[in-house]
This record gives sequence, structure tokens and C-alpha cells, in this order.
Amino acid sequence: MAKARRIFLCKSCGSSHPRWMGKCPDCGSWDALEETTLDPSAAKDPQRGLVADIAAAFASDDASNPTGNPASNPARPLSEINASAGPTQRLASGIDELDRVLGASPDGTRGLVPGSVVLIGGEPGIGKSTLLLQAAGAWASGSASTRLDPARAPRVLYVSSEESAEQIKLRAQRLGLVASSPDEVHAGESLYILAETNLARIIEQVRRVQPAVVVIDSVQMIYKADVPASPGSVTQLRRCSAELAYLAKLANVAILLVGHVTKDGTLAGPRLLEHLVDVVLTFEGDRYHAHRVVRAVKNRFGTTLEIGLFEMGSSGLREASDGAALASITLSDKPRPGSCVCPVLSGSRCVLVELQALTATGFVGAAKRKASGVDPGRMAMLIAVLEQHAEIRLADRDVFTSAVGGLRVNEPGADLPLLLAIASAERRHVLPPATAAFGEVGLGGEIRPVPHTEQRLREAERLGYSHLIVPRSKGDDVRTANVRGLKVTAVRSVAQALELLNPAKT
Ligand code: TYD
Ligand code: MG
Repeated sequence: MAKARRIFLCKSCGSSHPRWMGKCPDCGSWDALEETTLDPSAAKDPQRGLVADIAAAFASDDASNPTGNPASNPARPLSEINASAGPTQRLASGIDELDRVLGASPDGTRGLVPGSVVLIGGEPGIGKSTLLLQAAGAWASGSASTRLDPARAPRVLYVSSEESAEQIKLRAQRLGLVASSPDEVHAGESLYILAETNLARIIEQVRRVQPAVVVIDSVQMIYKADVPASPGSVTQLRRCSAELAYLAKLANVAILLVGHVTKDGTLAGPRLLEHLVDVVLTFEGDRYHAHRVVRAVKNRFGTTLEIGLFEMGSSGLREASDGAALASITLSDKPRPGSCVCPVLSGSRCVLVELQALTATGFVGAAKRKASGVDPGRMAMLIAVLEQHAEIRLADRDVFTSAVGGLRVNEPGADLPLLLAIASAERRHVLPPATAAFGEVGLGGEIRPVPHTEQRLREAERLGYSHLIVPRSKGDDVRTANVRGLKVTAVRSVAQALELLNPAKT
């Protein structure tokens, strides 16, 4: 009898090695190799068989295929493929913030593509299960497409490998997915719950329920019985995800997989899973803040620029689409030193984010520079610009900056507000009330224009800001204009921008 072979698979890149090593030679990650036994029957040289197959296929000139592979799926010219013939109608959940991140078709419909596999990653306790149960409920109640006819809503199967069906029911009650009176339109009828970790039994239930959407929360706990590895190991993860991806295409169900992230913030078993799936979403935010952001890292059916904003409340996640201002001060508060609001662009969205800065006594050569939610490289650049072009000495000052609300801001338009926040913190000066700013800062101390000025002005105005500091393209003087009742101050240099700071009144 052939002896079972032992190999070592890397948990982070999936490469295999004949012996254990402390560091994976392929990807360089430490303590990532994991022992697996290979099935001896599968360990025959697979390549020899392949070469023979190809040779046989090319040697025969008749249309029948000697390899026994089905020839029912011939290659077709692009022009002959009819995109609208297939079941490509996207499934909109009605949760707009999620649908937009999932992508839009040319005809404008948004949402989940049937037969696609979506991976959602996020830290423990950030709200992945909450988001997916709410989304599952929304798909099942057909709130987007077939609002008034619950019989036509697609079936949704929510598989939990971490919680029991009763626990999910309690959660669903909290999220308002369960009808309180019988004549309400609710998800209860077409939302199926399954507490299961065995892959074969999950697939059997998918076959019976025939859902349009399957949620697997989480994929790390799913196991396939005949794979000799523990649940959560690379081997199990790879096999189960590959089979689920195949199931999605075969049964034309959309499958959403929940994945855990490792300590350093990447998805566990990352590269393996990212190749297998069509869409990778991350769900992030500060656990101690209410705001949560859904962002696409990879999307075969749409852009990765879009973000979805949510707020965690006592009855689950609420869409934060209207008052999308992430600020810790309200417009009626007195302006504070070290704070500036910026209209930040993300995909087709404009979000007003408050950038904060604080300076404190430090030591030359050992001054601390800490950025949270802001690019530390750009912050260092802005500090250098302030030293050189505004004569604000920061070499012996600790500088801390942050974007309020847990959003990561990394667009050039946030340079000017961050610079204003740092200068304002250091001088203890404030901006005029209800002021927002945007613009890129160059190394020469000039303020450069950034795209989508109109959209930023409109959004700031909508949220009640009355004064905007913007980049000016031509001429040297500061210009103030009125755009639809908004006071717009156009500046060309850092020095001009800093003149707008006034001493704080106490
Ligand atoms: P959960 O969805 O279980 O997180 P994950 O699946 O990503 O581990 O959400 C956990 C947190 O969400 C929990 O700490 C409390 C909070 N939460 C609310 O604030 N309100 C709610 O209605 C629910 C269901 C959860
Ligand atoms: Mg969970």
C-alpha cells in the first residue's frame, strides 16, 4: 500500500514544502507552515496524464472528443454572446450602501450578481454577522424588487457555523426581521437559517432549499469530512472555498463568505481566498465608534472606489447615507483649535470628515509623529512644508493627527485641511465657524486644485457649511466669491491659507 505523504502548506500564501521551516521561503511569513497528509492515490504524477490527454485530443481530427471531456461548451466569438440572455439580473438588497459597493451594471441596476462569490472580511465584533443577517433579511423580504409580493422574494439561506439557530433568531428579533403582526411583510418566510459546519450537509440543504443567496458565516469554521485537516486550516479553507465557488457557478446562487482577519489586519488564508472569489469586501471601523465602512478590495463586477457607510445602533446597522458628516463637533459648537472639516471624495460619494491634530512638547530628534486614519507619509510632508514655508517650528513638537469616525482618508484633497489643523493646533488659532477646506499641498508651499470641486461644494453646502477654503488656479491674490450662498475663499499658497486662522476667543 502506498504510504501517505506528509507535506507542509503555508497558511498565508498556500505554497507547499517537503519539510517544516520557521519561515516560508516563498512569502517570507514566519510560523506559517502547517502539516498536511496527502492522499496517496491522488499523488500520482498528474502532468503525465494531462500531456497524454492533450496529445490524444489533437491527434484525432474528427469532432468527437477522445478525452471524454464534454464538448457542449464550445468557444464563441464575443459578438455572439448575449449578455442579457443569461441570469445576470443583479439582486438588489435595498440596502443602498451595500448595493453600491457590490457594483452597478451598465443599465444602472446595483447589487449582487447571481452565481458570484463574495468574501467579506473584518475584525471580530465589528458587525459582519449583523450586516449579513440584515442583508439576508432584506433580500428575503424582496424589499428592493418585489416589495409588495413576498411570495416572489428570492429565498435566502443563512448558514451559521458559529451560532445556534436560536441565537440567530434572537438577533433577528433585535434587528426587526421578525414580524410583530401577521399581516406585515417580513423576511421570516423566505429566510432559512441553518446552524451547520459540515460542508456536505450545507450543500445538501442548498440543493433542497434552492436559495438565490447563501450566506456562510464564517467560512473558517466549515469543514469537509474527508479532508484530513482541522477546520480553519489552509487545506480545509482552500477545499471548502473552492467547492463553494464551484457550487455558486453550478447552481447559480450567489454565495457570501464571511472571513476572519488575522492580527495584522489581512484576511486569514488571504491570497488563496482572494483568487477564488469574485468580490472581496472589507468591513472596517473603530469598534468604539458607531461608524462602519464597507469597502471593495477586489470586484470583478464593479469599481473598487465606492464605499458604504453605516452606523451601528441598538437595533443593528443603519445606513448613514444622508447626514454623512463624520465630525465630533456640530456646526453650532465654537470652533476648536486643531480641527478642520474636509469634503473627502470616495468613489461617487462625498463625505465630510473632520481632521484633527494635536501638538505637544517633544524632543528634537525624537519627536513623536502619530497618524490614525491619515497617511503618515503625507503628514510628515505637511510638517516639513509648515516648517519651510510658514515658519512654524515643529522639530521638537510631538504631532498627533486623526480622522474622526474611523474613516481612512488618503486623497490629496485632504492635505490642506490637515495642514490647517496642525497649524491651528500649534498656534492655538481657529478657523471661522462652519468652515470646511480642501486642496492638495505641493512641496513648494503652493495649493493645487483637486478634482470634483463642484461636488464637494454641493455636499458641504447641503450639510450646512457656509464657508469653504479651496485652491485657486490662476493669479496671486486671495479671492472670495459667493457660490449659491456659500462663501468660497480661494487661496494659492500655504501662507494665504494660514492667514484665515484667527486667535481663539475664550
Ligand atoms: P457581530 O455582527 O456579532 O460581529 P462579527 O460577526 O463581525 O463578529 O456584531 C458584534 C457587535 O455589534 C457587538 O459587539 C455589539 C454590536 N451590536 C450592536 O451594537 N447592536 C446590534 O443591534 C447588534 C446586533 C450588535
Ligand atoms: Mg460573527
